Formats: sequence, structure tokens, C-alpha cells
Amino acid sequence: MMCGIIGYVGPRDVSSVLLGGLWRLEYRGYDSSGLALISNGELGIRKVPGKLSELAELIKRSPVTGQIGIGHTRWATHGCPQENNTHPLVDCNEEIALVVNGIIENYLSLKDELEAKGHIFRSLTDSEVIVHLIEEGINKGLSEAVKGMVKKLTGNYAFAVISTKEPDKIIAARHDAPLICSFSKDEAALASDVSGVITIFDEVLDIPNDSIVTLTKGSCSIRDFEATERKILPRKVAVKVKDIDKGDFSHFMLKEIFEQPEVASNIIKERIQDDSVRLGSEINLTDDELKKISRIVIQACGTSWHAGLVGKYLVERFARIHTEVDISSEFRYRDAVLDGDTMVMAISQSGETADTIAGLREAKAKFLKVLSLVNVAHSSIYRESDGTLAIMAGPEIGVASTKAYTAEILNLYLFSLYLGRLRGFVSNEELSKHLSEIKKIPEQVEIILNLDNWIKDIAKNFYNARDFLFLGRGFNYATALEGALKLKEISYIHATGYAAGEMKHGPIALIDEKMPIVCINPKSIVYEKMFSNIQEVVARKGIPISIVTDGDEKTMAVSKYAVQIPDCIEHISPILSVIPLQLLAYHIATLKGLDVDRPRNLAKSVTVE
Ligand code: AGP
Repeated sequence: MMCGIIGYVGPRDVSSVLLGGLWRLEYRGYDSSGLALISNGELGIRKVPGKLSELAELIKRSPVTGQIGIGHTRWATHGCPQENNTHPLVDCNEEIALVVNGIIENYLSLKDELEAKGHIFRSLTDSEVIVHLIEEGINKGLSEAVKGMVKKLTGNYAFAVISTKEPDKIIAARHDAPLICSFSKDEAALASDVSGVITIFDEVLDIPNDSIVTLTKGSCSIRDFEATERKILPRKVAVKVKDIDKGDFSHFMLKEIFEQPEVASNIIKERIQDDSVRLGSEINLTDDELKKISRIVIQACGTSWHAGLVGKYLVERFARIHTEVDISSEFRYRDAVLDGDTMVMAISQSGETADTIAGLREAKAKFLKVLSLVNVAHSSIYRESDGTLAIMAGPEIGVASTKAYTAEILNLYLFSLYLGRLRGFVSNEELSKHLSEIKKIPEQVEIILNLDNWIKDIAKNFYNARDFLFLGRGFNYATALEGALKLKEISYIHATGYAAGEMKHGPIALIDEKMPIVCINPKSIVYEKMFSNIQEVVARKGIPISIVTDGDEKTMAVSKYAVQIPDCIEHISPILSVIPLQLLAYHIATLKGLDVDRPRNLAKSVTVE
């Protein structure tokens, strides 16, 4: 399960602290939610299938109070979103309450053992085995009970429990799923990520993997699974509440699309100095080490994989290093041939994607250097990599990734120029030419964002479409894939992205007078080839919606609709071309009345395999 968990003990109104935290954690999963508090030796539980707003309504109708509590917002894997599968889950005597983020892979065998001992299971979840295992050892105390059972679990998890027998403490444990905590003189809290506790604490502790945490009013002790104490230094929380607030925008996705000029400016300010590129100390690789690299394997998922695809084209073009791009869920199991001078790059916005973490560990197990492009500092991928390049997109809350994508590509572009300069394939003149083009990006993105109303008008013609095709070539093959993914994710329209050169090898059969086809054809070395593909679409009565360079009358003449983007060099075009596609998907989804920020069946960070 990819969920958000939270816990609080202290003097504040616990249910509003938990609910407030769950609102900010909801992007992690939102098909059911609940909380449990202890008051007067009793568990007070409120839980509902459906969006968090329904839990808020329930608590308004039937308030629950107490000094200590835990909460949960769910993305179901085992057991569909219905009342009995909703967390918090309880033991047979309803004295212990549990919330979990993760998957317990050996739950079936554990469940058989526990049922044989007489335990009654109320849910179809994999998680419920945890609370019954704790119940088995509860006579030794809650902390000992947790310590005694964690090693029986396989899978990845972060969970928190409270017990009416020890109403002053929350016990939590973490294995390969994110968890932070914090405390001050009379309160303490834990959550799946900082956004859960950001309104109470400005410092947090990153809980190391395989830890058991005990929270009481004003204290937090962290031990490993052998009960050895771990001293963790607090770190300042960089994210501010306003950063994770929609402001005047109706959706986080739209806010994040419109933040892209500022994000690009920040990256340019940070990475370009005196006509050279600086990668920052966190890369933790010397120029000599970078020079020695003979091969790069990029591994990532979803939108980050699409950015990796553009990265391959950029690194090979400027640094002449053989570069491959792998989907992490395939890379982790394919036993890739990886020799000593290969560097593995992980790309991840959240830094918590389970398959990408596994790919990273696979590379490290083969003694390879891992450099990660990651947006969330202090995330698992950030902490487990040898070096990191910060994506610097700022908090991204909308499930459909937008600003992180263009920021990933811009960082990969600067990284490839740095490598190219280092390895003598890029001259100083060529470098400064590219850097001056890059410095135009924020303004160019502003120009495209001003076309928002035109793109909305185009969307009005297609929000009832059943299928969409996206076509691109070269640097914009990835743009076609990304445009299709955005539309799929938030509008639920079946959309496919293709390398346009592949059309004649099959997909062209899909084209008819009802098929909208987004054709990405800004100025590039493959412009004429792409133009011919658009002609092939027109010849089969398809409906071309083209992304073209400003003033490209030729492509506009054969297109039903066209969005003109500022003239730019082709290496920058995947950053600019994708923005009309982000807006097209956004408007089609809102015209369909869908919840753009919480699309069905998805979650922002895929923390399970
Ligand atoms: C993109 O909009 C999706 N949210 C999803 O494909 C995402 O890109 C993928 O899960 C990878 O996430 P990461 O970048 O946080 O690792």
C-alpha cells in the first residue's frame, strides 16, 4: 500500500492535528482514511472509505478526543477500499490500533499461523497481521511486542501503533518505507513525510531504515531492530506551508505548471555561473571520476523515465558517453551487464519510488557509483546514492508530475554540457552558446503559458474523445510519451505516445476521422521527417493537433489545430513542447469534471513494487 501515516501525542486537539496532517499527506493515497485516539482508556476510531473530506464530515458529526492518536490515508493494494479494510486496524480485543504504509509480502502464512491460534481477522488487508502479531506479545509491553515481531515480516513497511494499556506512547517501525518524526518539550509526532507535521515542527528526524521509534509527550527514542539506541541529529525543514498550498490556483497541477518559469530561473541561477556549469558539492564525484565514465545507465519510472530518455539523447550528443535508459522495474530484475566504468543514474521526483530504490541497490550491489537526480532532499534515494543532483523543482503535490519533468530535463541538459566540456567534446564557445539559449527558457515558458486559453479552447473539442495518439521524433519522442501519460493519468482517456517513425509499422492502422493526433514538430533536424508523418495522418483523415515553432505556416497549414512555441534550439524543445500538452491534459480532465490532483487509482509516490 502507498499510504500516508501520521501520529501525534501532546496538548493540541489531536483529531484536528491528525486531520490537518492527513490533508497534506493525501497525495500519497486517497481511497479511504481514518484515525484512532485513546481517551479514558478506550480507543476512539473514525474511518470511512472514500476521500478525506468524508472523514472530516464524520468527525464533525461525531467528534473524538484524546491526548494521543494515529491517522491514515490509503492507496489500496490488498482489500478494496471499504470500511473493514480501512485503517486504523485493531486487534481481537480492540485495545491496539494500527496504521501501515507498505506491503507485507508473507502475510498469508502469518495469517494462517495467527488464525490457527484463534485470532479473528476483520479485514482482507495484508497489514492486519501486524496488529495480531503485536497482540501475541503485548504482555511484554507494546515496545517489546513490536521488537519481537518485526523480524517476522517480509516486504516494506512503516507502521505506527497505540494501545489502551499504554496510552502515553506511540510505537512505530520502518523498513524500506519513508518515516520521519519530531518532538519538542511537550509534544511529539511522526509522519510518512515532513508535510504531515510541517505546521507544528520546523525540524525533523529522518528515521534510518530498520528502526523502532517510541514517541511520548516531549520525547522520541530511536533504536535499531536489536534495540541499540540510534542518535539522529534533527534537520531544518526546507519546505514552508505556503509551498504546499494551492494559493489562488484551483488545482496543485495548474499551480505547478505555472511555477515552471520560476523553477527554471532558480535552476539557471544555481547551476550557471560565469558562462560555466556548476553541479554542486552533493554530486560527490570528482572530475577525474566523471572523465572515467564509459557508460551511463539511467533507471527510473513513469515521467522520470521519460526525462531519462531525453537525458540519453543529451548525454550522448554532448558528452559522447554510451547511455542507456531502463525502466526501474525491469532493470532491477534483468541482471544487467554492468562493468566497472559504468555509472548508474537514478531519476526520481519523490525519491521514494520502490522500483527505483531497488534499481539503485542493485547497482550498488555490483559496486557501481550511483548518481541520483532527485527532487525530495533526505528521501531514501537521496540518502542511499553516492552523489546527488538536486532537481530543484520545489514541492510537487499534484499526482501528475509537471514542473519536476521539465526541471529534470534542464538539469540533465546542464549535466551533459558539463560532462561534454570536461571530456573536451564541447568547446567554450559552444558551451556559452547553449547557456545563453538556456537563459531564455523562463521567458519562453511564460509566453507558452499565455496560450492557456487557446489550449483550453482546443480541449473543448476533444474532452469526449475515446482515444488519442501522440507522435514525436528525436528529442520529442519522449515528449509524445509524456503527453500521452499526462492525458491518461488525469482524464482516463486511452492515449499512446509513439516515435513517429514507428507509425507505418502498425499504429497507423488506428487512424481514422475520429482520432485526435498530437504531432510534436518544433524546428529540429527531423522536422521534415515529422512533417511527412503529419501528412500521412492527414491522408488517413486523422485530426492533427500540432506543436510547432512560432511562424511555421507549413505545418500549421496541414493541422486542424496548432500551438506555436517560441523559436528555440532543438535541445530545449522537449522542455517547451511538453507544456502545451500538460495544459491540454489539464483542461480536458477539468472539462470532464475529474479530480485532477487526485486521479483515480494513482498516488504521488509509488513506494511499493
Ligand atoms: C507522473 O505524473 C506519475 N506521477 C508517475 O509516473 C511518476 O513519474 C513515477 O511514479 C515516478 O515517480 P518519481 O519520479 O517520484 O520516482
